[in-house]
Amino acid sequence: MTADELDTLMAARFSCRGFKPDPVPRATIEAIVATARRVPSWCNAQPWQLTITSGAETDAFRAALKDEMATASHAPDLPFPTGYSGVYLDRRRTCGWALYEAVGVEKGDRDGSRAQMMRNFDLFGAPHCAIVSSPAELGAYGALDCGGFITGFTLAAQAQGVATVPQAALASYAPFLHRYFAIPDDRLILCAVSFGYAEPDHPANGFRTERAAVADIVDWRG
Ligand SMILES: Cc1cc2nc3c(=O)[nH]c(=O)nc-3n(C[C@H](O)[C@H](O)[C@H](O)COP(=O)(O)O)c2cc1C
Repeated sequence: MTADELDTLMAARFSCRGFKPDPVPRATIEAIVATARRVPSWCNAQPWQLTITSGAETDAFRAALKDEMATASHAPDLPFPTGYSGVYLDRRRTCGWALYEAVGVEKGDRDGSRAQMMRNFDLFGAPHCAIVSSPAELGAYGALDCGGFITGFTLAAQAQGVATVPQAALASYAPFLHRYFAIPDDRLILCAVSFGYAEPDHPANGFRTERAAVADIVDWRG
């Protein structure tokens, strides 16, 4: 693969929030995981473990998640960010507004924005969901390694024509996920990645996010 081809692949990936119901063949999912596992990790510990749902299991999970949402409170294994300020707050707002504009939610429409946020718990209609966990004893560095794995997963999926959306939103309900999937308490549930084939005409897929310039990212020395 040339550098241009890699850049094209990375530019084509986006967070998909409207999926076709069609399942991804098991062999394709296995190929995605096989490629993603090539990412680096500290001491090559490869801390990522995935619980992947398909078919009726995804639908049962979606339904159980919605039931849980009625009463559950926010309880992630890994504390969520304590705040976004400055440029990070600006970027967060910009991407949120782009999504709301795409789906026709006006600024200040709290019910509309909440309804769009709740689509997270419908997995945006995806036929598959991967729950990503890491050993608690590896702490932030296990999470760091898993972040790399999630990126590898999204790119490997893109190369297979499969769309993805990482979802920290689901990690809010970690106790439920531990219970539902029997994921042991000595593992941190970090994130979910819902995936399947994109519904290209879905309004939520009708925008793309921007990136800061290289000059804004790098502090060159020498
Ligand atoms: C760790 C992580 C967690 C995320 N959690 C959510 C989420 O809960 N819901 C959601 O709609 N998007 C979520 N996203 C997607 C981001 O909003 C998205 O990656 C970002 O806006 C950049 O857009 P792009 O992925 O389309 O390039 C998450 C992404 C990452 C990497």
